Parts: sequence; structure tokens; C-alpha cells
Amino acid sequence: MYLGIDLGTSGVKAMLIDADQRVVGSASGRDVVTARPHAGWSEQDPADWIRATEEAVAALRAAHPAEFSAVRGIGLSGHMHGATLVDADDRVLRPCIMWNDTRSHREAAALDADPRFRKITGNIVFPGFTAPKLAWVKNNEPDIFAKVRRVLLPKDYLRLWLAGEHLSEMSDSAGTSWLDTGARKWSAELLAATDLDERQMPGLVEGTEPAGILRAELAAKWGLGAGIVIAGGAGDNAASACGMGTVREGTAFVSLGTSGVLFAANASYLPNPESAVHAFCHALPGTWHQMGVILSATDALNWHSRVTGASAADLTQEIGDALKAPSSVTFLPYLSGERTPYNDAAIRGAFLGLGHESGRPVLTQAVLEGVSFALRDNLEALKSAGTRLSRVTAIGGGSRSRYWLKSIATALDLPVDLPADGDFGAAFGAARLGLIAATGANPVDALTAPATAETIEPEAALTAAYEDAYQRYRRLYPAIRAAY
Ligand code: XUL
Repeated sequence: MYLGIDLGTSGVKAMLIDADQRVVGSASGRDVVTARPHAGWSEQDPADWIRATEEAVAALRAAHPAEFSAVRGIGLSGHMHGATLVDADDRVLRPCIMWNDTRSHREAAALDADPRFRKITGNIVFPGFTAPKLAWVKNNEPDIFAKVRRVLLPKDYLRLWLAGEHLSEMSDSAGTSWLDTGARKWSAELLAATDLDERQMPGLVEGTEPAGILRAELAAKWGLGAGIVIAGGAGDNAASACGMGTVREGTAFVSLGTSGVLFAANASYLPNPESAVHAFCHALPGTWHQMGVILSATDALNWHSRVTGASAADLTQEIGDALKAPSSVTFLPYLSGERTPYNDAAIRGAFLGLGHESGRPVLTQAVLEGVSFALRDNLEALKSAGTRLSRVTAIGGGSRSRYWLKSIATALDLPVDLPADGDFGAAFGAARLGLIAATGANPVDALTAPATAETIEPEAALTAAYEDAYQRYRRLYPAIRAAY
């Protein structure tokens, strides 16, 4: 048995799989709260991650006691880029500054202006990445900066608690702005540029390799034996790719989670920072991936739900499943700024083209379309980075909406595959990495793709209307940028 632990933005999910990769069960802890004390800030308390992990594991154990006691390997996945700062006694120095926190946009721009960052990391220094957050802490909380003994990514902080080790792996570390992404090692030069050095960073392994052994105290508490291997694991997007078998060149997925991601696996390192595409290491040795990232996907629908007082499920049900041509209303989903293709922390969302007739269903339709168009922007960015896709697989909570899937297929003009019933997300990918690290299985053989249950084709009768609406959407960003 193998345990996958996915530290998501809203909570922790634990999943148990057997040696044949069949899902035995999964469980979640109570939600983790995100604090937004100032505009653009987003923080979590790492103690909540541990609490939620303990709850998820306890629930999984209670539901499957015999299977749980046979766990041999653990894999970790987590939201990326977060700065978890610990002192010499491994005590957390301040709340984790999360991936969707854009307070450090000035520091990010300053680092990005140093040509070494794009050259060595292959990426823009986005405000959400880790290095500019440390620069912000240095400028605004110098006492805390002085105490930083180690900078850990969120899932690697969980590893510290699980195994007592300071270790990370390539896929998550590629999102720090300190990794030499092509060479898969920390860049001493870039660390020095933010007044840090390699001793403050965790050691690096590949995601498929062992990276720690479960502490005896926790093993005893969870009814497990000695020597339970913890895999390097992966950042949540690469972990989802491991779950979906998106590991071979040309395979891709679109993820509709809190953030939206268009992810393509690459056999080689293909950076193109100019298009704001992320070029990161994959969790498998010697492989990389590209992705476009939008900051608000289901988060946009959740915002609309909060404002209207209707649940997201009710909102999507209200518009039905039959795809409609875009109305005159356009929604820009830039509720916390945008990464790909704009790298703009200051931009904010908008509804445009409202009329007296624009009721709630029209606004819901526009919200879903706005996210679809933002993903189309990501597809164009990947194209300019040399990647051509012929189909994508949909994952994430938003993929439960048929309307949204049809809208995405039509906006991207690509067939969207739905995996056969099952849960192939980041927790499953993490469990698979746990299996590979514990057994030495060949990663490419182990990380197969699920069967496709159904393919959603672009709606030919609406592609022209969608193209027109997309072109209008494209023109609005520069217009509102100039107006603000
Ligand atoms: C990727 C990114 C998000 C987070 C949250 O660059 O910032 O997808 O990993 O899930």
C-alpha cells in the first residue's frame, strides 16, 4: 500500500493505493484557512497543514485500518512557490506567503530586471514565486529575514514534520527562481543575488527518488512499521501530471482548480520566458514541462458565488449544459492579478458589456467563458514556446461542469478528454511517486494514463462566435490596463 498526501490550497487530501495502483480510499482534513490581511496578500499557517494532514490520515486509517497498516511508501504533493521560513530550531518564523500572494511585485520586477534570473531559471521572476517573497521579507521584516535558517516549499515543510529532513525535489524547486532549471541544481549566483546561500536551501532529489523515512514516533502513532520511504514527490501540477500519466512529450492537461493550468510534458528543457510560460522540471529524472498559469479559475466562480449568494453548483445548473454563443458580456478573471500571459500583479477583473437584460445566468456564462478565454491565452503562449497540442485532458473540480468543458473545448478548438471514472489528481500522483520511490519501479512504466471515458469536442457551430468573443476579450486587457 502507498499513501499520497496532497497539500492543496484549501485543504489536505490523503489517498491510499495498492500495489496495482487501485485506489483503496481517500479522505480530507478540515479546510485550511487562507488569510488575506491586505489587498494582494495570501497567507496560511503551516501548523494548519499538519493539523489537516493528521485529520486526513486519521480518517483514512479509520476507514481502511488493515490496508493502512500495510503502507510502505508515501508521496507528497503541494501548492507551489510558498515561502515557509524556519529558524535554526526548525520553528516557523511567520505565516507562509502563498503562491497567489502578489505583495512582492516590486521585488519581483527588480529581480526580473537582472538578466541572470531568466537565463538561469528559464522563467520570469513572477511575484508569486519564492525568491521575491524573500526579498520582500528582507525589506519589510528584516528581523525575521535575519533568523531564516531554511526556506522550505509547503510540501517540504510537511516532509520536515514527517521525516525530520530538509529535502526538496526538482519540480517544486523550479518554481522558486533559484533553480538552474536546465542543470537541475540550485544556483549559488541567484541565491547570492537575494542575500541567501545554498545552506539555507533543502537538499535536492528527483521526485521519484526516496527523500526521507517516516519518523519512528509518527510511524508508531499511525500503526506503521519502520523504514517507510517518503518520495521526493512533486509540486501539485507535476503531481497531477504523474496522476494523469502526462509524462510523455505531446501529452497535456487542463486543470480547473483554484488556479487554472494548461500543462504540457516535454522531453527536453524548452524555456520561453518572454511568453510568460513556466518551464519547470518534471518529477521524473531528465524530463521537463511547460505550463501556462492563470490565478483564478474556480476561484472566479467562487467569487461570483459569494457575491450572488448562490452556490457554484446552483449557478452552473442554472445555465444548463447546452453551450450558448457568448453574449455581449465579457468577464476578465484577473481577481488577483494574472501570470500567463501578462505577468501583471496589479491588474484586476472586470465585467464589461452589461445591459439591463444581463441577469445572473448571463454573468455566470461570462465568468465561465472568461476563464476559458484566459486558458486560450495560455494555449497561444505555449504555441509561441514551441508546443503544439492536439488534445487535452481535463482535471480539477471545475471539470464537473459540462458547460465549462464545452466552453473550454470550443475556446481552445481542441478535443477535451475526460478520464474514466476515478480520481487521478495530485494525491493519486503523489501516491504513485511513493510507490516508485519505495519499490524502484520504472517511472515511465508506472505512470500510465487513465482510459478516456468521453471526449468533449469543440462545438463547430459556435467556434466562429467564440473566436470573435476571444478577440474582443484580447482587446480588453490593454484597454483596462491603460484605464487603471
Ligand atoms: C503554479 C501555481 C499554482 C499552485 C497552486 O505555478 O502557482 O498552480 O501550484 O495550486
